Amino acid sequence: MTDTSIYLDHNASTPVLPEVLAAMLPYLREHFGNPTSGHAFGRRARAAVELARAQVAMLVGAAPDQLIFCSGGTEANNLAIRGVMSVRGDRRHLVTSVAEHPATAAPCTWLEGQGVAVTRVGLGADGQVREDELAAAIGDDTALVTLIHAHN
Ligand SMILES: Cc1ncc(COP(=O)(O)O)c(C=O)c1O
Repeated sequence: MTDTSIYLDHNASTPVLPEVLAAMLPYLREHFGNPTSGHAFGRRARAAVELARAQVAMLVGAAPDQLIFCSGGTEANNLAIRGVMSVRGDRRHLVTSVAEHPATAAPCTWLEGQGVAVTRVGLGADGQVREDELAAAIGDDTALVTLIHAHN
């Protein structure tokens, strides 16, 4: 990589702001307890996780107990997509797009193999999901619509 290189993949990985690093460092260096442990080290880490959960919830307009922290995108996508379809056993259809990241496309294809009907809507010339196609795809049997919000 030369000094003239331009990094165009911040959607996948990006450096944290200095204030984010400063907030995290104490928990990487000193307060490194396992937040699910009952001892004092764990309880201190747990308090920090719960504070972060409350702050993120406020940012996105959710209740803290609606947020689940995951180790990465693949885990989060599998948890959400397979999780929703497993609790909505009465509905056996999901809608996604033809432009999904493999971490989303793969669990959708896996569910298809389990008998779930999957509709993959297309994109217009502007790269946006076609709204009319999306609206037409959603039916009484649809449990989930999963679409990438920003693509790298
Ligand atoms: C939209 C999207 N979903 C999922 C992933 C996979 O994330 P991870 O590598 O954290 O599992 C990526 C990685 O680039 C991504 O861009």
